[in-house]
Amino acid sequence: MAKQVAFQNANGTETKSKPTKKTKVDYKARALGLRAQRENLPIYSARSAIISKVREHSTVVIVGETGSGKTTQIPQYLLESGFTTYGQTCIAVTQPRRVAATSIAKRVSEEVGTPLGARVGYTIRFEDCSSEKTQLKFCTDGLLLREILSDPLLRRYTVVVLDEAHERTLRTDILLGMLKDIQRERKRVAELNAEAERTQHNEYSDSRNSRATGTHIKFTDEAEDDQPPIGEAVVDSVYGDVTGIGELKIIVMSATLDAERFSEYFDQAPILYVAGRQFPVTTYFTTQPQSDYLDAAHLTVLQIHTETPSTSGDILVFLSGQEDIENVERLLRESAAQFPKGVPHLLPCPIFAALPQAQQSLVFEPAPEFTRKVILATNIAETSLTIPGIRHVVDSGVHKVRGFDPRIGESLLVEPISKSSARQRTGRAGREAAGFCYRLYTEADFAQLDEDSVPEIKRCQLSMVVLQLKAAGVNDILKFDFMDRPSKRALKHALLELYALEALDDKGELTQLGRWMSEFPLEPTYSKVIYASQKLGCTREVIDIVSLLSVDSLFYIPADKREESNAAQMTFRSKDGDHLTYLNLLRAYNKVNGDREWCHEHYVNRRNMRHVLDVREQLNRLCTRLSLDTSKSCGAELDAVLKCFLSGFFHNCALLQPDGSYKSLSGSQTVHIHPGSSMFSKKVPAIFYDQLVFTNKLHARAVSAADPLWIAQASPKLYGRISQL
Ligand code: CDP
Ligand code: MG
Repeated sequence: MAKQVAFQNANGTETKSKPTKKTKVDYKARALGLRAQRENLPIYSARSAIISKVREHSTVVIVGETGSGKTTQIPQYLLESGFTTYGQTCIAVTQPRRVAATSIAKRVSEEVGTPLGARVGYTIRFEDCSSEKTQLKFCTDGLLLREILSDPLLRRYTVVVLDEAHERTLRTDILLGMLKDIQRERKRVAELNAEAERTQHNEYSDSRNSRATGTHIKFTDEAEDDQPPIGEAVVDSVYGDVTGIGELKIIVMSATLDAERFSEYFDQAPILYVAGRQFPVTTYFTTQPQSDYLDAAHLTVLQIHTETPSTSGDILVFLSGQEDIENVERLLRESAAQFPKGVPHLLPCPIFAALPQAQQSLVFEPAPEFTRKVILATNIAETSLTIPGIRHVVDSGVHKVRGFDPRIGESLLVEPISKSSARQRTGRAGREAAGFCYRLYTEADFAQLDEDSVPEIKRCQLSMVVLQLKAAGVNDILKFDFMDRPSKRALKHALLELYALEALDDKGELTQLGRWMSEFPLEPTYSKVIYASQKLGCTREVIDIVSLLSVDSLFYIPADKREESNAAQMTFRSKDGDHLTYLNLLRAYNKVNGDREWCHEHYVNRRNMRHVLDVREQLNRLCTRLSLDTSKSCGAELDAVLKCFLSGFFHNCALLQPDGSYKSLSGSQTVHIHPGSSMFSKKVPAIFYDQLVFTNKLHARAVSAADPLWIAQASPKLYGRISQL
């Protein structure tokens, strides 16, 4: 190997835990086979302590190292101890990421010994794999937030487990506040029920059962006798019939030690610490800063592979996102193809949110013989997922974070991780035996990292959650019980944006349109665009484009085939920009039925196109449920489509300046068009864009030409007021 990355040793760090393997077998037999593994997990010895704490307290905080068994075991302990009733109530376990929700549900259903979607299921945005009988439901935090809109007391749930709370995602933070409120209300209602029970007890003592008290429920395979209790329904002035509603238990789970904050927030809830199993990890830093971490990651994997036997364990590489992962995957495949005879195979296994389910589970499969797996992951593998067999970790030191600046809009940035993340990543190498971690940055750079990441709520666009809070009846957003309060400026900006989108009225109250928009699991800008498409008769095209925008990249652009890839993309080019270019691509893709060869020739990312089709199907279904006519199409009259987009994206516009640059309309920032855009180096009076990405400068992604007159028509209210903020 000509090129090498030089590393130096650092002090060892450590982690713990136990491996598992999986193959498909008969459910019950499989579950029996997994029992020994379950009982071998560190958390097993804390089982009865956990259950009794949850029985005694409304809220419990549980801290345990990654891999100790929190996510897979605690929900099962609750299930086995009768915290839910078959066919009636359910336990929700929230995850910040969809990949974690689906893959953990799959694992837990295997451990329980029932098919996925039956007793154990999952629900994520655009996908429901659960039934009326589901007792353990893994879902994203965003999904549970949406359920509160239709079920303000979360009646179906006896326990909500908030997993990965240390990540402090925007939605987890909002959920914390809302659950606290729901818990208080449920307590009040449960007391009402208890009171009714006491007074009616004498009259109906032989027929009324104790269903109201969620925790004394029998665990059985059969649906229980579903007779309603005799006597009058218990009626609450706010929620109507509340018969049978009991207390809501909340369990907050975290992989880091900063649990006191959660405990304080929930009125000094008890904290349980679960010890993990630890093996030392030898950590290396690069001797020099790396200018290209993708190249460095690729070379480091090759170094590990050639210098250590493949039996010494698999390799886990942390990268910032799908694009990085696919680039390194390609580099590794190319290198591996040239291995001399006798060198074991290298099998790259990517894992990121938009990856189809079938390929996600590949990372958990044992590698074929004479093969070493290289898992290429985002920070999903930091604490949410534990992949067995890892002994070597390569840490790029970066992750992708959403940022927001009212003057610029929302942006996606690749940023250095925190020290706490770096330690978690390192720990992944030492779960089963002593391991090695290669940090692709210097020790001096590590010393400069922040101790912890800033909670998302402090740096994200808040429009969507503010809309959801409003729809859930939280009128005074500024007084909401946030664990970490977002800045007033950010909140005010969100309120103003919702006002400009006509989701809120002059008094800040939800409009009918706002309520409609809150039904969508999308940023309000997109739901507004979909709404506008009905009037302008182009719903089909708009849903297509919104689905196309849901993935990172539609094309492959290999570093050595940039020109060929660009030439292929030209086939789909629309003079009006990327939105219509993407639409052309989808139309062409549909014509050939997603043919593999065709995708290859045109550098089309087939994996992402399949995800696009999934999203489109779900959006169509949702729109139909909301009485939209999804067949409305504008055919070749595509101006309507651009006008629709402006009705949501008027805050993402930039105007051409005399010097040829573009300045954002809302904040007068210079906006550069992304080199991958069909509008790159084009000069039109005005543009609008889907997103800003900061690499070395601010790049607009998914850019289209806009008629300045349309912009003025689309944003009647916003700009005068936004500039005052
Ligand atoms: O939540 P926590 O990080 O504490 O641990 P977990 O996700 O419950 O994982 C417990 C154990 O189950 C780990 O040792 C994993 O390796 C194993 N597991 C697995 O083998 N396959 C899965 N799909 C999920 C977990
Ligand atoms: Mg976990």
